[in-house]
Amino acid sequence: MTALQVGVIVGSNRRESINRKLAHAITLLAPPTLACQDIRIDDLPMYNGDLEGARPAEVNRFTAAVAACDALLVVTPEHNRSLPAVLKNAIDWGSKPSDKNVWRDKVAAITGTSPGAIGTAVGQQHLRQILGILGVTVLGGEAYIGGFKPEWLDAEGALANESTRVFLQAYMDRFAALAQALKSAR
Ligand code: FNR
Repeated sequence: MTALQVGVIVGSNRRESINRKLAHAITLLAPPTLACQDIRIDDLPMYNGDLEGARPAEVNRFTAAVAACDALLVVTPEHNRSLPAVLKNAIDWGSKPSDKNVWRDKVAAITGTSPGAIGTAVGQQHLRQILGILGVTVLGGEAYIGGFKPEWLDAEGALANESTRVFLQAYMDRFAALAQALKSAR
C-alpha cells in the first residue's frame, strides 16, 4: 500500500518552538501508512489581496505543498486563546481564491502544547472551526498537551513521557485510520 502523504504544519515561527519539537516527536509515532513531511509557513508574507495578481514564490510553494498532501497534521501553540497569526495567515493564503481553496476535502489532525495547564484547548477550538468552514474533515476527539516540560523528550527528540506517548500514539493511529478511510471512499 502506498503511504498517505501527510503535511506537518507547525503554528509557530519560533526557532526553539516547543510545538515544533512536539511535532517531530509525533511524526516518530506515525504508523508506516503515513509519510510525514514538514510544510513551512514562517516565510509567508502577510496575506494581501494586492499580491493576488502575482503571488510570491513562497506562497505558491506553500499552496502546492498542501495541495499535494492527502492529510495534514497541525501542531500549534495558542496565542491569547486563539490560533497564532502566523498560522491563520497561512490558512488564509491557502483559502484563496475560493475556487482553488487547497484545504477543501483534506483530513487533518490537530494538536498542540503550551507550558500552561490549558494546553491550547481554546486555540484549537478556533482552528477546528476555521478548518471546518474551509472543507477540512478534522479528526474528532481532543489532544491538548498541557504543562509541556523539556524532559518529556529524549536526546533524539522522541517522547520519553510514557502517558503522553501512549495517548499520542492512539491519536495518530486514529488519524491514520480516518485518512485511509476517506482516501478509499474517494
Ligand atoms: C502565549 N502563550 C499562551 N499560552 C497559552 O496556553 N494560552 C494562551 O492564550 C497564550 N497566549 C500567548 C500569546 C502570545 C502572543 C505568546 C507569545 C505566547 C504562551 C505560549 O504557550 C508559549 O509561549 C509557547 O512556548 C508557545 O509555543 P511555541 O512557540 O514554543 O511552539
